[in-house]
Amino acid sequence: MSNVSSDLIWQITRGQNAFLVKRNDAGGVQFSRDPLNPTNYHSRKYAGFVNEKAIGLESSENGGVSLIAKNASNTQNPAKNIRTTTFGPNTSNRKIYKSVASASAKNGYRADLREVAVARVSALRRSQKPKKDVPASKPRGAKAKKAAEQDFLKIVLGASGGIGQPLSLLLKASPLVDELSLYDVVNTPGVAADLSHISSPAKLQGFLPADDGLKKALTGADVVVIPAGIPRKPGMTRDDLFKVNAGIVQTLVKGIAEFSPKAFVLIISNPVNSTVPIAAEVLKAAGVFDPKRLFGVTTLDVVRAETFVQEYSGEKDPSKATIPVVGGHSGDTIVPLFSLAKPALQIPADKYDALVNRVQFGGDEVVKAKDGAGSATLSMAFAGFRFAENVIKALKGTKSETEPTFVYLPGVPGGDAIAKATGVDFFSVPVELGPDGAAKAINVLEGASEQEKKLVEVAVKGLKTNIEKGVDFVKNPPPK
Ligand SMILES: NC(=O)c1ccc[n+]([C@@H]2O[C@H](COP(=O)([O-])OP(=O)(O)OC[C@H]3O[C@@H](n4cnc5c(N)ncnc54)[C@H](O)[C@@H]3O)[C@@H](O)[C@H]2O)c1
Repeated sequence: MSNVSSDLIWQITRGQNAFLVKRNDAGGVQFSRDPLNPTNYHSRKYAGFVNEKAIGLESSENGGVSLIAKNASNTQNPAKNIRTTTFGPNTSNRKIYKSVASASAKNGYRADLREVAVARVSALRRSQKPKKDVPASKPRGAKAKKAAEQDFLKIVLGASGGIGQPLSLLLKASPLVDELSLYDVVNTPGVAADLSHISSPAKLQGFLPADDGLKKALTGADVVVIPAGIPRKPGMTRDDLFKVNAGIVQTLVKGIAEFSPKAFVLIISNPVNSTVPIAAEVLKAAGVFDPKRLFGVTTLDVVRAETFVQEYSGEKDPSKATIPVVGGHSGDTIVPLFSLAKPALQIPADKYDALVNRVQFGGDEVVKAKDGAGSATLSMAFAGFRFAENVIKALKGTKSETEPTFVYLPGVPGGDAIAKATGVDFFSVPVELGPDGAAKAINVLEGASEQEKKLVEVAVKGLKTNIEKGVDFVKNPPPK
């Protein structure tokens, strides 16, 4: 608009024009998108659309750079007012800088814009370079690096059994498992051959005791899951299993102490209330006990609680409920804390006892229904896998669920207070997992209802005996 004074245009448009960018931050700072304003300051001096002398720089269509300037002599002829000089894509940066610098400063045109114009050329040229792929982000810190590089070797000891086979299947199918070693006193070559045909990444090997099989299976293991032992027959309590399974667990954990002392040990073999203290004593005697790495798997009690309350929770997917189940892993040492369930549950008072009883003795339902053919195996494999997968996730540094597990409380952060409150050292509580294992034992007992606190008292009594029995088995071995 050559017939209107630039100052007038500025006065009219300074508060409102298409180039203006108003910001709320930094005290309401204002910028300009004016192509003829390489500084981007919104001011009379730099607004290219009003200033008779202005410079603009743009990428040209063919990959070069265009310099736009105004012809001060041609203000009366708007069509010819703009002059564009285009530098081809092959012109060297140096040459463009030189031309742009001289075009801005020559004859006192806009020397104040020389630097910013050259900087704009540089930025344009850089933006025209072919995009380099961003290298994959590298984990930071020595631990993260190690975790990412590491192949996760999982071992199932007792892999041919009722639990061992489906558990090995789930582990073989898991994308989180890199290598799987199966050990048992029988049948592992067959189980391993069968599973090895599954098209999942985990490399798989089966071992028998011959030829140093236990040593070979355990060497380099990161996580060892132990479902070895004999299962319950009708009429047997978990404690009846003790004599046989105590010896099996002791032998296997001795192997762990020797061949994979840093491994995370997940004990499924019953009675968990005693086999975990046995494992702790064996590891202690070998000088390699790290309480943060020893877990009794009580997940089946949690899984059962989630399932059995479904009719009161109304959850379509029962696993969406969170129910802390604490204490131990047999009969009345198992204490489901329904009052702390999330989402909250409304259990009718007349149904409460039966529900608690069903969680505590749910295993009996299966033992009875299988009628001599063993105890829970498929649901246990599911539960064992859920817990094992959680441990692997934590080890790999990814998010894992806080789930109840039977641990040596004084050795786990936050556990001391629970040990003091209950009077037992081994107890199942929700435990936060991290790359080093149990990172924190959560004291949920304080929030329990009076009714539940009474159940905990009963559980503690039973637990004390079970734990002592386990410790005693190692310290004062029964005569052979
Ligand atoms: N933690 C739980 O919630 C839970 C639930 C169900 C069962 N269990 C327990 O898990 C254990 C296994 O149950 P199952 O039904 O799979 O029994 P199973 O008899 O079907 O399998 C046990 C396997 O362990 C093997 N085994 C025995 N001694 C061994 C040794 N020294 N080294 C390696 N392997 C050995 C056997 O050969 C067999 O293949 C039992 O102790 C059972 O009570 C625990």
